[in-house]
Amino acid sequence: MAKDFTTMEDSNRSCNHSIHEVSDPARRLVLGGGAMAALVPFLAPVACVSSIASLAGCAVPAGGAGPKLGFAGVVAGSADAVVVPAGYSATPIVPWGDPVGIAGQMPAFRDDAANSAAEQAVQMGMHHDGIHYYPLAGSTRGLLVMNHEYVDDGLLHPGGMLPWTAEKVAKSQAAHGVSVSEIALGAGGWQPVRPSPYARRFTATTPFAIGGPAAGHALMKTAADPDGRTVLGTFANCAAGMTPWGTFLSGEENFQDYFATADQPTAHERRYGLRRTAWYRWPEHDARFDAVRHPNEPNRFGWVVEIDPYDPASTPVKRTALGRAAHEGAWVAVTQAGRAVVYSGEDARFEYIYKFVSRERIRPAGEGMSAARANAELLDHGTLYVARFDADGRGRWLPLTHGQGPLTNANGFADPGEVVVKARQASDALGGTKMDRPEWLAIDAASRWVYCALTNNSARGSAGQPGVDGVNPRAGNVMGHIIRWREAGDFDGESFEWNHFVLAGDPANARPEARGDIRGDLFACPDGLAIDARGVLWIDTDMGPAAMHQGEFQRLGNNAMLACDPASGEVRRFLVGPVNCEITGAAWTPDGRTMFVNIQHPGEATRGRNDPAAPRRYSNWPDFRPDGRPRSATVVIRKDDGGLIGT
Ligand code: FEO
Ligand code: CA
Ligand code: CA
Repeated sequence: MAKDFTTMEDSNRSCNHSIHEVSDPARRLVLGGGAMAALVPFLAPVACVSSIASLAGCAVPAGGAGPKLGFAGVVAGSADAVVVPAGYSATPIVPWGDPVGIAGQMPAFRDDAANSAAEQAVQMGMHHDGIHYYPLAGSTRGLLVMNHEYVDDGLLHPGGMLPWTAEKVAKSQAAHGVSVSEIALGAGGWQPVRPSPYARRFTATTPFAIGGPAAGHALMKTAADPDGRTVLGTFANCAAGMTPWGTFLSGEENFQDYFATADQPTAHERRYGLRRTAWYRWPEHDARFDAVRHPNEPNRFGWVVEIDPYDPASTPVKRTALGRAAHEGAWVAVTQAGRAVVYSGEDARFEYIYKFVSRERIRPAGEGMSAARANAELLDHGTLYVARFDADGRGRWLPLTHGQGPLTNANGFADPGEVVVKARQASDALGGTKMDRPEWLAIDAASRWVYCALTNNSARGSAGQPGVDGVNPRAGNVMGHIIRWREAGDFDGESFEWNHFVLAGDPANARPEARGDIRGDLFACPDGLAIDARGVLWIDTDMGPAAMHQGEFQRLGNNAMLACDPASGEVRRFLVGPVNCEITGAAWTPDGRTMFVNIQHPGEATRGRNDPAAPRRYSNWPDFRPDGRPRSATVVIRKDDGGLIGT
């Protein structure tokens, strides 16, 4: 089923490039040529005024007619280091535990991990994931907004998880969520700005408002929140999207792992993966995570949350109109009419890909009103769809609209709020396609292809599980694949064409399921995806720490970041991470000359997270102190000659 790279349909990008190039690659992901001119003024009232000129000026050149990939590829390797091509540097900044930069609250990280829960709440969280750069002064000063997906409690506390205490639960909760930190480019490179008035942490206890159909719904009400309109916290935040109105969208992914429920979970709990025992041992010291006592608390997680990093006083919001799922992240496209289309997958075996189309058009910033404020309710009203991929290379978006088709009161969907709280059940009823763990998406506004990484699904085709289908063609899919689709009409269309962009794996391997169409460097388990301003598709890998050291995976070395030219099909390895890390996230400054990449969980135990025998020494990146602990961190990538990243 895989499409041959040599015959891959080109994206006609070359003829459109001058129209679509904008200085901020994240902007390019979301703006079509017609929409760009309309949306640039939206950002004017926010604090990034100096970026507006460069946005309009299209500062990132297309790189000429030569090859898009100009660097010498890095070989696969297993060093405890970040390795980048000759002529590039990679410098770690803002690691877990460094102060985020709140004035008067900047405790230093302690090598023995002895910082308290209160200190952790004002420090960088653990396990950096989705990230975006929000300009304050173009490409020389800005905000890094990033997710801290989960924690390794074995590393987070002195003595690991033994004993397990209320203070450790509080610290674990404080190390989750999202951070906003300020950085600036000086003579010594990029450095944190501390203190900063923008510095902020969102943790598992930060108040969030609820927007959309589930706000105030009976399924969202708890003893502590009888109105069902305020939730404490966000966690399991994986990937992130940047909206054209200047906010940050973060997906609450594997929220089910934080709750414990009865020996016999309800059908609704089972459908969302709740179990008798929580993976994270929060319920032992925080009754909120005991779903027997607080059965609606799990319904308050699994949403896409929206944060305005430019307004430190803003209240973050859970956008329930986008559906409740193990959202990897959320990415925004804009229709010619100016509506927002938010794509999102859920990283779980045999779960779904969604899109949301806003009812209203994106509003411009107003007099004294930021674009974020002007669009404060944009994502609360619209239509949610689940994807059905048909074997003939076509597909349909099926609306999760209450009262239509099977989504009726008689079938257990009393109202629109119940449909979004039970989006998985609604998608089951509609016949959405059960996918091989959808991770990041990347929207190429120029070609209108939307890419999605399906990281792996070893259970595909096993006993009692769904078998192969057109879009998920490999049983026991251990190496994953990348698909892409293009809407019929605009991004809000209800049908599309799709194809396999690549089946990841080793083409030299005799195993049929590992035979891919890669031309160039090999990879497996694609996770992060991003398209830069020059049209290069960047791919982050997430091979599991157990699998990575076995069999055919060994030849791939540590997890890596690769660059792909979709036009030629060439894949070239750009970065190799330290031991047992995962590469997460990619963001650029508006000038395309600095890239930020996150290194998550260096030194993760092959036995998995939360190994009670802590600390471990599989890696001590990035500090390399003999008694230090490995720390997730952002790496700043620059070209020595100051050139565009990837050339
Ligand atoms: Fe959090 Fe799906 O990676
Ligand atoms: Ca991921
Ligand atoms: Ca992953």
